[in-house]
Amino acid sequence: MKKIKAFISRVWKSIFRHGWPDNPLDRALVMTSNLFLHLHPVKVNRKSLRATYSFGLGVISIIVFGVLSVTGILLMFYYTPTVERAYQYILILETQVPFGQLLRNLHRWSAHLMVIVVVLHMVRVFYTGAYKPPRQFNWVVGVFLLLLTLGASFTGYLLPWDQLAYWAITVGTSVAGYEPLMGETIRTTLLGGPEVGQEALTRFYALHIMVIPAIILLLTSIHIWRVRKDGGLAVQETDKEGETDD
Ligand code: HEM
Repeated sequence: MKKIKAFISRVWKSIFRHGWPDNPLDRALVMTSNLFLHLHPVKVNRKSLRATYSFGLGVISIIVFGVLSVTGILLMFYYTPTVERAYQYILILETQVPFGQLLRNLHRWSAHLMVIVVVLHMVRVFYTGAYKPPRQFNWVVGVFLLLLTLGASFTGYLLPWDQLAYWAITVGTSVAGYEPLMGETIRTTLLGGPEVGQEALTRFYALHIMVIPAIILLLTSIHIWRVRKDGGLAVQETDKEGETDD
């Protein structure tokens, strides 16, 4: 019995290399030696832990991005980005593939949700003054993440190649064409030619499934790392008043 206890204790200590977290040192070790917890700083302001402080909107954005990535990969099993076949594959997905309609709707609704959640996250960051120094760099990274989120929605919109998609992208890229100085260059670079056709579909597909998600992944990693290095969520001096900390 003693030997079994000693064995269990050895296995336990090989995984958890700290004592019960009832003192500051062990509490710090819990944070630094756990893969998931080490994303948080060792010490954070008590107020920032309240669910209603951030509403977890940044984390929800990451979860929704995860859902979009998984459903997106599954959609790629059935989709081909050619003007002759794209819409046909969408119809097959909707009518013949088991759970195909659910898969497509999950992807579509998650895309809408991600735009809403990222905007709300930005509003929360602004409301709590977290854009102020030293977090101004992370605010700028966030602005790029917002633009990329919108870019992912825009490029994904063309892929079903139905009338709605075709005309929405025709209008959208025409609007981009009115930008002074670079407008026409931006439009033709996006479309790969003078109008919406196969070249545009190929480019939008590459941007949608590869370029934009890869940059979102990279910038999100920098974003989270920055939050950690800045000591967790920002709590303004005025918010700290009257706080009791033990
Ligand atoms: C794909 C989009 C985004 C993801 C996945 C994301 C993720 C996160 C996460 C997980 C956090 C920490 C927890 C939280 O605040 O909920 C955070 C904090 C932060 N985010 Fe974002 N974010 C995104 C977009 C944005 C945007 C659009 C902005 C602003 C323009 C922004 C600015 C910030 C700032 C300044 C912080 C630090 C907040 C603080 O210290 O209180 N983020 N983000």
